Amino acid sequence: MLGAPDMQVTATLGSATYVATTDNTTAGLGWNSRPVVTAHEPLRRQPQGPIRWNSGADGHSPDGSSHDGAIRRPAPWRVHTTMPPTDLPRSTFTGLQPDAGPTDANSGVLDAMGAARMLGRDARILARPNPGVGAVVIDEHGNVLGTGATAQPGGPHAEVTALANAGQAARGATLVVTLEPCSHHGRTPPCTDAVIAAGIARVVIAVTDPDPRVNGAGIHALRSAGIEVVTGVDAAGVSDDLAAYLHHRRTGRPYVVAKMATTLDGRTAAADGTSQWITGVEARTDVHRLRADADVIVVGAGTVRADDPELTVRHVTGPDPLRVVMGSVPADARVRPCREWLNEPDELLAVLGAEGHLSVLLEGGATLLAAWHAADLIDRWEIYIAPALVGGDAGRPLLGGSSAASIDDVWRGRIVHTEHLGDDVRLTVVPATRIHRNSHGGQT
Ligand SMILES: NC(=O)c1ccc[n+]([C@@H]2O[C@H](COP(=O)([O-])OP(=O)(O)OC[C@H]3O[C@@H](n4cnc5c(N)ncnc54)[C@H](OP(=O)(O)O)[C@@H]3O)[C@@H](O)[C@H]2O)c1
Repeated sequence: MLGAPDMQVTATLGSATYVATTDNTTAGLGWNSRPVVTAHEPLRRQPQGPIRWNSGADGHSPDGSSHDGAIRRPAPWRVHTTMPPTDLPRSTFTGLQPDAGPTDANSGVLDAMGAARMLGRDARILARPNPGVGAVVIDEHGNVLGTGATAQPGGPHAEVTALANAGQAARGATLVVTLEPCSHHGRTPPCTDAVIAAGIARVVIAVTDPDPRVNGAGIHALRSAGIEVVTGVDAAGVSDDLAAYLHHRRTGRPYVVAKMATTLDGRTAAADGTSQWITGVEARTDVHRLRADADVIVVGAGTVRADDPELTVRHVTGPDPLRVVMGSVPADARVRPCREWLNEPDELLAVLGAEGHLSVLLEGGATLLAAWHAADLIDRWEIYIAPALVGGDAGRPLLGGSSAASIDDVWRGRIVHTEHLGDDVRLTVVPATRIHRNSHGGQT
């Protein structure tokens, strides 16, 4: 989540306690408008030829409705303890701020959306290639009746689990869910059928699902069944959480995050090409978090030759992403098994998108980043800055290629998040010219 938080939610689910902030940031993640990019050398063309995949290498294969205005402000937090009788495991939400005012059903909705976001984020890795969605069923006082998150592919969607947990208590209740419920038969039956059958009176949705099979049809099905539907609640925050999924469904391509570690003077390797390690262990651990969250890692052959990286997830728990090297990979490189890609980056993204990959982590080096940047394929930058100096001109830059001819040609980004990691700092930057669109298609 990006931007300045404006409220915090604590939730206890089973044995785990979650603390997270919700916000109304307008960070422009997931929007695929074209920023201004200037002053780059022509793309280096690789020999056009067949796509070369290493054999045995592949381990993985705003909606038109409106906010009804009922939910306008964060209300005082309350402790939710009411749990209906059922044999199914259920969750309790505790530890919220002291009750400071009268019961307000809308505050319960905001609490529930915050909790649904946490559930959805936690489900992301298990759920992929599906989006990590969270759902919470609440009564008219905001008491939690059931919770759910997207299961593994083929397993129940968040709404279905939350409704099952709520049992009979779901009749007349409110379902709060981060993404529009599906209305089509996929690997599982339509969630809208389950919502209607459960007797839910109101559905609160953060963002509509741009997947062409849904795209407002879920909302239409619910309204046609007489269910009140509210949309756009915490849409910006959820759009950040689901940036990769929303981007993929809108563009057909994975969401691209470029990561680099740099010194204060913008060097990503010393004069001899060594770059291990510029940053400290906390920053490097954070990179492993990015890896675990990515479906695919892409790296340049120059980095493979210089660093012989494994590009696996080691310092955090999570699956290894598919590894793709642009260029030729030495037979004994530690990055193997991997795919080799000898064509242009945009073609690679098209292939990966068609395969259903939602996100790509681009791990350098400077030559490769320059090619992706020049083609305007980078949606977000994660720059780790160490308090170190290389000096002179011989160190490797952050971005290769030619320089901006004049200050008017300089690419501009917007810092949407900063974080101290040990002695280092991580900057999260998005293109300044990308306009954030809310779930209704309007600018924010
Ligand atoms: N600080 C950091 O976070 C960080 C991260 C990564 C790397 N590094 C450092 O960066 C250095 C390596 O960077 P680099 O710039 O020399 O190499 P690079 O960007 O890793 O790789 C460039 C190579 O990728 C291949 N390639 C294939 N398609 C390409 C395309 N469309 N556009 C551009 N390249 C394409 C080419 O390989 P062929 O020549 O085989 O055709 C090209 O030489 C090392 O010193 C490494 O330690 C630092």
